[in-house]
Amino acid sequence: MLRSILRSSTSNASRRGFASGASPERKVAILGAAGGIGQPLSLLMKLNPLVTRLALYDIAGTPGVAADVSHINTGSEVVGYMGDENLGKALEGSDVVIIPAGVPRKPGMTRDDLFNINAGIVKSLCTAIAKYCPNALVNMISNPVNSTVPIAAEVFKKAGTYDEKRLFGVTTLDVVRAKTFYAGKAKVNVAEVNVPVVGGHAGITILPLFSQATPKANLSDDEIVALTKRTQDGGTEVVEAKAGKGSATLSMAYAGAVFADACLKGLNGAPDVVECSFVQSTVTELPFFASKVRIGKNGVEEVLGLGALSNFEKEGLEKLKPELKASIEKGIKFAHQN
Ligand code: NAD
Ligand code: LMR
Repeated sequence: MLRSILRSSTSNASRRGFASGASPERKVAILGAAGGIGQPLSLLMKLNPLVTRLALYDIAGTPGVAADVSHINTGSEVVGYMGDENLGKALEGSDVVIIPAGVPRKPGMTRDDLFNINAGIVKSLCTAIAKYCPNALVNMISNPVNSTVPIAAEVFKKAGTYDEKRLFGVTTLDVVRAKTFYAGKAKVNVAEVNVPVVGGHAGITILPLFSQATPKANLSDDEIVALTKRTQDGGTEVVEAKAGKGSATLSMAYAGAVFADACLKGLNGAPDVVECSFVQSTVTELPFFASKVRIGKNGVEEVLGLGALSNFEKEGLEKLKPELKASIEKGIKFAHQN
């Protein structure tokens, strides 16, 4: 067991020195840390100055990833944990748990095709979260997000630990893509672009609200339709380009790091931390829905409404509801039956 745990060489003194700054100590655990997303995400979280302890968990490969990442001269301590028997130690004391564990798509597959394998993985990891760090903010990356978030909620409810403020489906990659594609078409500085993306995280359930995009640009209806489709199909674009070698990993690691950073800032009391996320919601009649969310010391402080929608977006919203509803119900049913 000892061999499977690898501590970083960061000295206690340097860690204490770092932790004595303005930010409180924060532990982040990454479950699936040796994977395509997990590795670059581990790197990016090691670079985040708000992280003091980084726990890297996977069923295999974490000693190597932890040894590698731990040599980076930032203040956080890195510990790698491998195998089921070490999951509890990885989770204990975590403030934020990021879950990119599970299988990715291959060309021709939908995200829902991953359900049979990933639902069970998410269920067992969430069972452990309920036991070892029930107060952590959970950032769910594993697909299909439209079902894995409801599964997590049901697992936490069963364990008596569910707090809807602490469970987030990570849809940041949709926002990252919408910003990039919009900036390219509108010929504006991508660093200044904001685009809310609402709904869910699969195909037509991904609804970018380009009518609310800033800086404003005079795009034609056809251009908006094309941008919307490209955002909805962004994941598939990467899956096809990778031709059997998985789905988005690098852009997802970036997006996951942006979202985890927002959670840490919110926990630390930073004002006006707003990101889109798939959360428990009353914004529509569906029990979970992605929209802008204000994140604070307790997690979700406020789920923001959709704002004014164009007719095209209103149609998109109505079209996505049946599919999103079915995916949510599938997750809930799985959690009850297994
Ligand atoms: P990957 O196969 O490269 O890595 C997955 C990792 O999970 C592997 O290292 C594997 O060992 C690990 N794993 C499997 N079972 C585990 C368990 N029980 N506990 C801990 N770790 C476990 O896959 P990837 O490319 O990193 O993608 C991971 C998931 O993220 C997929 O489901 C993918 O569809 C999803 N994803 C989501 C988004 C999003 O926007 N939310 C974006 C990209 C990918
Ligand atoms: C993405 O949007 O890139 C992810 O959900 C992975 C996928 O399967 O498309």
